[in-house]
Amino acid sequence: MHNRIFLLTAVLMAAIYSQARERQNFDAGWRFILADSAQMAGSSYQDGHWRMLNLPHDWAIEGDFLASNPSGAGGGALPGGIGWYRKTFTLSGDDALQSRYFIEFDGVYMNSTVYVNGQKVGHRPYGYSSFEYEITQFLKKGSNVIAVRVDNSDQPNSRWYSGCGIYRHVWFTKTGKVRVAHWGTHVKTLPVTVADRKWWTVAAYVTLDGVTNEKVQVVNTLYDATGKKIGSAKGLSSTIRVPEPQLWSPADPHTYKLLTEVVVNGKTVDAYETLTAFRDFRFDAQTGFWLNGKNMKLNGVCEHHDFGCLGAVVNEDAMHRKLTKLKAMGVNAIRSSHNPPAPELLNMCDTMGLIVMDESFDMWRRRKTQNDYARFFDEWHERDLADLVLRDRNHPCILMWSIGNEVLEQWSSAEADTLTLEQANLILNAGHDASTLAKDGEISVNTLLADHLAEIVRRYDTTRPITAGCNEPSPNNHLFKGKAIDVIGFNYHHEWIKDVPKNFPGRPFIMTESVSALQTTGFYMMPSDSIRKAPQEWWLPYTDPTMMCSAYDNMHASWSSTHEETWDVVKHTPYVGGQFIWTGFDYIGEPTPYSFPARSSYFGIIDLAGQPKDVYYMYQSEWTDQPVLHLFPHWNWLEGQEIDMWCYYNHADEVELFVNGKSQGIRRKMDGHQYHVMWRVKYEPGEVKAVARKDGKVVREQVIKTAGQPDHIQLSIDYQGKTTTFVKAEVVDKDGNRCPWAENQVFFESDAEIIGVDNGCQTSMERFKDTKRKAFFGRCFAVVNGHGTLTAKAIGLKSNTIKL
Ligand code: GAL
Repeated sequence: MHNRIFLLTAVLMAAIYSQARERQNFDAGWRFILADSAQMAGSSYQDGHWRMLNLPHDWAIEGDFLASNPSGAGGGALPGGIGWYRKTFTLSGDDALQSRYFIEFDGVYMNSTVYVNGQKVGHRPYGYSSFEYEITQFLKKGSNVIAVRVDNSDQPNSRWYSGCGIYRHVWFTKTGKVRVAHWGTHVKTLPVTVADRKWWTVAAYVTLDGVTNEKVQVVNTLYDATGKKIGSAKGLSSTIRVPEPQLWSPADPHTYKLLTEVVVNGKTVDAYETLTAFRDFRFDAQTGFWLNGKNMKLNGVCEHHDFGCLGAVVNEDAMHRKLTKLKAMGVNAIRSSHNPPAPELLNMCDTMGLIVMDESFDMWRRRKTQNDYARFFDEWHERDLADLVLRDRNHPCILMWSIGNEVLEQWSSAEADTLTLEQANLILNAGHDASTLAKDGEISVNTLLADHLAEIVRRYDTTRPITAGCNEPSPNNHLFKGKAIDVIGFNYHHEWIKDVPKNFPGRPFIMTESVSALQTTGFYMMPSDSIRKAPQEWWLPYTDPTMMCSAYDNMHASWSSTHEETWDVVKHTPYVGGQFIWTGFDYIGEPTPYSFPARSSYFGIIDLAGQPKDVYYMYQSEWTDQPVLHLFPHWNWLEGQEIDMWCYYNHADEVELFVNGKSQGIRRKMDGHQYHVMWRVKYEPGEVKAVARKDGKVVREQVIKTAGQPDHIQLSIDYQGKTTTFVKAEVVDKDGNRCPWAENQVFFESDAEIIGVDNGCQTSMERFKDTKRKAFFGRCFAVVNGHGTLTAKAIGLKSNTIKL
């Protein structure tokens, strides 16, 4: 589907508007230096000794993990600093100066200042916003230089890892005198009932930019995904009627395209495409979430923006891998926590069918970390929030706006402005006294601020509800007192959900953030049926010499729950529209419950290297129709050791476990509230087997064998993208069984470019940009750009080569 639309776009672009805008990717051929001098803006500055690279780029991911790096473990303990980028390009042709030119940055972290030929063009502090500058007046015929200063020296400033540099794409656009303005279309698809007949309309509002004396005409034409013309209409505001469109849903994400042409004297002078789709949704206070007349849960995950060993760099293959793995688990919704995401993420969610909660800020006026966006909020919030909505409002995947995550304005604590990171986290996660809540009938400054932000959103879009991730569940939370919040959103506090109808009568509800269980892939703490809180209470430290967390679903932070506990509440409570689990993938930073040398999260259902943790299969068994039988852990223990074997399954009545052929009993999930079965068995080398039966017949089996001595490295393609390939390397015995305790150092060699290595271990101090990695529970990954082969070697093991 994705490719077909792309092809259609290319054909349309070529055939219909040869005169129209030229938008080109501007990522190639930049120079970079990690240093700072005012001279670097200048057009005659000699940058020949700077490093040559292609964007997107993140200099932090290239660094070493150090306790002394100012981002702290919360930010991934990677470096910050000030860097400069420069690119020289040529404007040629006699009519070069007859056109208009624009440069667009999808994201620069942070505090970017752009110069063209030595003159300052603009400045943007918020590192997650996208922005465009017109640079026509700064350009000349012949050679031109664009220079970008990026300042991420004052840290910590983001929860969580931000990356450093021009980490998203850059675009250069040439247009005629009149163009469709930046983000200048607003396309709304609405169902209308006329005389009992249901129609859909596509209402398009176009904003033009530029001056001309001639008569300008705007024509909008709607095409379906096969390129078939559906209808067209003229004017700055126009409506196209569509009798029976194919609807958009996560299961069937049908999309359409609106082509907006600007015509002067019969000639198309600009053409602009907007992807759109038809879907009807609502949140109901009694019955939860509805899409296209169907009641369903938002089975969502929160995602922070990094791609593990690739850092913050936007890599569409890594992004597609992420979303593909999440979809296969049954995820149907993503929350861009806690910032505006890359535009490509939204494009993919549109075409792959993933609902999005688009989030603007992690803080407002009251800071959470020393140097965060709070210092820019007063001056910039209006611009940044408006830009988010203007940029994103046409995406069919977005069904909700979030005006903030756990902002301290929920309370009226006067100290909040001066809190350290630790103090802020304590307040956020641990409680506050009633005196900080709103009094009955009070409309506080904080309530007005929330209303003001909601008003900015509604100025540009009224088709989606507004929510906020709130960790104060009392109705006297200042954010809940005004008109801002359409859908009440709790972060955690699943034990308060039963009070929602009483506390918030008539108001729809979702869990904007949930769970926060803690797991390390491949590590198991027994007995598995005792739940570990880490830390036990928020004010206590948590230590464990392994610095790992348990991959049974038996460990979570003090403010949160196991996966099963929250899912049980969400599943069985009709008025809960769904949840966004913290998190889908592990991310760099926030290594709760540990601190440095831990430097990445334990919260993910999938680890940083992209390996599903065991609980992935619990969700898959609940959220998809795919047959699941997942038995764990591995079968390499001490003779006689008592081992808890867990199994997630569906589409079966029972599972029987065998150790070396001897039955260990039959287990069944009981009463609709049980999500796994368990056997406590004595380990003996050999094999353990799970047999699932339905109506007495065997429907599935899984066998795990005791691995022998490490013998060779087995390579397999975990994900093959257009450019980037993720290769899994496993240390296995002579029969191919993974050796679950192997820690061999694996050396990779390739004629293609190795762009990252990882093994999912949260405490590894090895660099992400390297060609070697230690196996962690017998596995590691190499990420490679381009074609050729990849070879993996380790001392004492037979090596192996795979074709990319
Ligand atoms: C929430 C917060 C997230 C993350 C999470 C960990 O309070 O919104 O950013 O810190 O806790 O449990």
